[in-house]
Amino acid sequence: MTARVTALFDNIWQQYIDVTPSAKNIHQLLGDGNDIINDHVAYRTFNSAKVNLATLAKHLLSIGYTECGQYDFVAKKLTAKHFEHSDNTMPKVFISELRVEEFSIEIQEIIANLVAQLPDDVSERNDFLYSGQLWNISSADYQTLLATSEYAAWLSAWGYRANHFTVSINHLKNYDDIIAVNNTLKAEGYLLNSNGGEVKGDSEVMLEQSSTLADKAQVTFTDKTMEIPSCFYEFAKRYPLANGELYTGFVAASADKIFDSTNAV
Ligand code: NI
Repeated sequence: MTARVTALFDNIWQQYIDVTPSAKNIHQLLGDGNDIINDHVAYRTFNSAKVNLATLAKHLLSIGYTECGQYDFVAKKLTAKHFEHSDNTMPKVFISELRVEEFSIEIQEIIANLVAQLPDDVSERNDFLYSGQLWNISSADYQTLLATSEYAAWLSAWGYRANHFTVSINHLKNYDDIIAVNNTLKAEGYLLNSNGGEVKGDSEVMLEQSSTLADKAQVTFTDKTMEIPSCFYEFAKRYPLANGELYTGFVAASADKIFDSTNAV
């Protein structure tokens, strides 16, 4: 089972670094030749039946993951769940879905047109979690989505791929402090998401997170090619519960700010 999990995340990682070359470089920088344990990998989707959170999650449930937490992001109109593997060196997976029905008819129609291009059984694909952008979209529709929901626009352009990987600071050999990680990144010229402060959360909520701002990469729309924000890299430090085990949940107030790492700057 663990070999299947490792193979899946190898594929997801390769697809991710294709459009996020900074992550590959930072991975080398922080790991200094050692393996890095991923705290979690995050996905975005629409709540449309064909591609909703559950259709992504079934790929995880089939390889030993279980559902462990649910989150609501009112302003961004998102529902999210996180999944954990019995082997805690395997990344947690955080999947959010956009509540499409809460948007205007115009936005709903653009999203419905994307999902309608997909076969009914699209989520049965073995490579669904790294299948990328499976529909065609015009740059005008992308811009319309972007004006209302950065999340929807990003998803329309990039499709099914990791939105970010996350380094587990707890498992790094050379660091145990998120400030030290951030300082190393800034010294190398990487830009951090400073929305809400560079460090989101603290020991009180048992989770500290920071992230780079997304790289930029080319996307082919039906009418032209544009360079837009792609994916980012996150860094997480977890604190122990009273029983000594590390906290494994997520903090909605922090995640809300992390989502903004793909905003255009
Ligand atoms: Ni994250």
